[in-house]
Amino acid sequence: MKITGKSKVFGIIGWPVSHSLSPVFHNAAFDYLGLDCCYVPLPVEVGRLDVAIKAISALNIAGLNVTVPHKEGVIPYLSELSKEAMMIGAVNTIKVSGERLLGYNTDGIGFITSLHEAGQSVSGRSILILGAGGAARAVVFAAANGSAEKIIIANRTAGKAESLKEQVQKHFPSVKVEATGMGYDDLREVSNKVDMIINTTSLGLKQGDPSPVPREFLHRDLFVCDLIYNPPETELVRYAKDLCRGYMNGLGMLLHQGAASFKLWTDIKPPVHIMRQALQDALQQRPSSGRM
Ligand SMILES: NC(=O)c1ccc[n+]([C@@H]2O[C@H](COP(=O)([O-])OP(=O)(O)OC[C@H]3O[C@@H](n4cnc5c(N)ncnc54)[C@H](OP(=O)(O)O)[C@@H]3O)[C@@H](O)[C@H]2O)c1
Repeated sequence: MKITGKSKVFGIIGWPVSHSLSPVFHNAAFDYLGLDCCYVPLPVEVGRLDVAIKAISALNIAGLNVTVPHKEGVIPYLSELSKEAMMIGAVNTIKVSGERLLGYNTDGIGFITSLHEAGQSVSGRSILILGAGGAARAVVFAAANGSAEKIIIANRTAGKAESLKEQVQKHFPSVKVEATGMGYDDLREVSNKVDMIINTTSLGLKQGDPSPVPREFLHRDLFVCDLIYNPPETELVRYAKDLCRGYMNGLGMLLHQGAASFKLWTDIKPPVHIMRQALQDALQQRPSSGRM
């Protein structure tokens, strides 16, 4: 990749970010399209977000992705938020427009696009969403916006599921939303009422992690999504391969949230096939990280 005196700089801020695969596929896309742009990981410690954001315009940075732990903390520094970012309460993409910083969240559209690629849709579905963290918020709002029939949010800390349920109901009063805990009895109760399960918890990232849903609660009517992509097969995905009508991991969501950011920054159709190949190659070369 050739860097010139005029190269536009894009990047990702978070802590840590050294494991991020975003540089790999964004740089592959810039290279393929012959754009004089580059994308770099920018580690920003908690407590230094303020100086980092102020430096964006001083350093002429053209656009940023934002990852854990800054997705919420970045909001007060932005000039404007997209509808999705406002609803979700988190930003994963900053577009620089002159002196203005515009905040977007492409996680939801990334998830929905990857689901469509797998031949599935949330429309009319009864969906069990495990988790109530940042990723869950993006997926829950995308499912409600995509006309899911019913959404059940199950979280280890049940109070967080309840509070997410209330926020979704405020924006989408016609969607049925329930909240519950993630204990054995809670999941037994709800798993027969749904035809899709989406794991947005970090359970499965580490080797030896159990499935968040016991094997005996999976059935043939279920399509299972695990947002984890490294390892590519969690225990939940392994069970789903045997017992359910279909499954997908989080690789497609990672790819498509990135593709949507690319489009926002450049206004050019992203070369998704190149980005996917770069992602797959990079993942093959690195062991399971246990990282988000
Ligand atoms: N594919 C993608 O593009 C993509 C994008 C974003 C995130 N992700 C993945 O999504 C997962 C969550 O990310 P996040 O940003 O939402 O993190 P987060 O905000 O920290 O939320 C973590 C969630 O996982 C739950 N959890 C953590 N450890 C658990 C355990 N041992 N048992 C049960 N539940 C547990 C938490 O429950 P409590 O509330 O009870 O703590 C919370 O609901 C990660 O695996 C990440 O890699 C993938």
